[in-house]
Amino acid sequence: MEQKLTVDIEGLSGFIPTEEIMAYAARSSMHLDELSSGTGKGNDFLGWINLPRTIIPELGKIEACASRLRTLTEATVVIGIGGSYLGSRAIIEALSDSFAACAKGGHKVLFAGQNLCSDYMSELLSLLDNLNYSIIVISKSGTTTEPAVAFRLLKAHLEAAVGKESASRRIVAVTDRSRGALRKMADTEGYETFTIPDDVGGRYSVLTSVGLLPLAVAGIDIHELVNGAASMHSTTVHNHDPGTNPALIYAAARNLLYREGKKIEIMVNYTPKLHFVAEWWKQLYGESEGKEGKGIFPASVDNTSDLHSMGQYIQEGERHIFETVMSVMKSRKKILIPATPGNEDNLNFLAGKTVAFVNEAAERGTRKAHIEGGVPNIRIGIPELNEFSLGELMFMFEIACGISGYLLDVNPFDQPGVEAYKKAMFSLLGKPV
Ligand code: PA5
Repeated sequence: MEQKLTVDIEGLSGFIPTEEIMAYAARSSMHLDELSSGTGKGNDFLGWINLPRTIIPELGKIEACASRLRTLTEATVVIGIGGSYLGSRAIIEALSDSFAACAKGGHKVLFAGQNLCSDYMSELLSLLDNLNYSIIVISKSGTTTEPAVAFRLLKAHLEAAVGKESASRRIVAVTDRSRGALRKMADTEGYETFTIPDDVGGRYSVLTSVGLLPLAVAGIDIHELVNGAASMHSTTVHNHDPGTNPALIYAAARNLLYREGKKIEIMVNYTPKLHFVAEWWKQLYGESEGKEGKGIFPASVDNTSDLHSMGQYIQEGERHIFETVMSVMKSRKKILIPATPGNEDNLNFLAGKTVAFVNEAAERGTRKAHIEGGVPNIRIGIPELNEFSLGELMFMFEIACGISGYLLDVNPFDQPGVEAYKKAMFSLLGKPV
């Protein structure tokens, strides 16, 4: 069984010769040097590369704050959007009990500020009427509309419930060192605060207090997550050997596929627990690469559910796609399929087998069918869903994203395009200039 995360390109051999991928990956290693020496585009936003080391002194303060919120309250609402939301949500969904929301007891983590849906907000406020809760509000700029609207509503709700003074002890702000409305408000109201480093952009901030504080509140072992990222840092950042550097292989393979006309990458999972990891990945790659008229379109499917919807297109639709499968090698829980005396559903051939065994067959069978149908396949082997392997996986994706952006010759650390919708929306809303 695999112990470390691996990137397997065997499923590309019918499309691009392996030697060509390895040679391109070796040439791509020059972009690793640009990342680590800060000589490439966007070099004022490279602080994320050393986070597995630089965040360590802050872990104690993060854990102390998380433990204070867990003692004080029974639920925490995490407010944020984009890079200030997806990383923590991804890890919480991957590692928590799927039915935690229905379970009695345990500290609940809820999310707000990631949409402008009035029904969602109203339902959340009704739920909070009967909960003793705290708030973590996260915004690097401190001016993003969605979390600002959510915070305005929740702050008023909490103050009405417990009084202004008690509310300010239950609110924690994660924001920029000095700029933005949230920093100003936190200083005035006396909230505990955490600072997002200037040189770390939103979508690369999962290993700062942006990701780690909500995770610690959810009871996730943030040391192990950082250890996993640190291990991937040693495997990738200064390693020019494509044979042992999964980030180099992944970046090179997907860019060669793109040049061959495979414009869409579908991130595939076989567990709903990885749904939000794919959402996080889509933001990372979509915002980093989609500019100057270039970039692979990042999409995702949740299998086996989506084999009953998107499976038809992937098997037989336009051949402009490739798949990357997040393949979890070992389930944490084992469940056996029982035999029935009458075998009414004809499933006794599976009696005594585990559900994971059937899922693995679905994954292997689908992979084979899709490759035969003309869809190249990259397989990321994840030993088990735990903090360490998610730290490895996310850091590998970040390094590969930096390399990929440089291979496309774009700045992978800015997002000028996200301003356009804001301008149009503010003009419709009549925002004073
Ligand atoms: O990656 C990014 O920079 C964006 O997705 C931001 O994270 C997102 O827009 C939220 O921004 P902020 O943290 O400033 O509220």
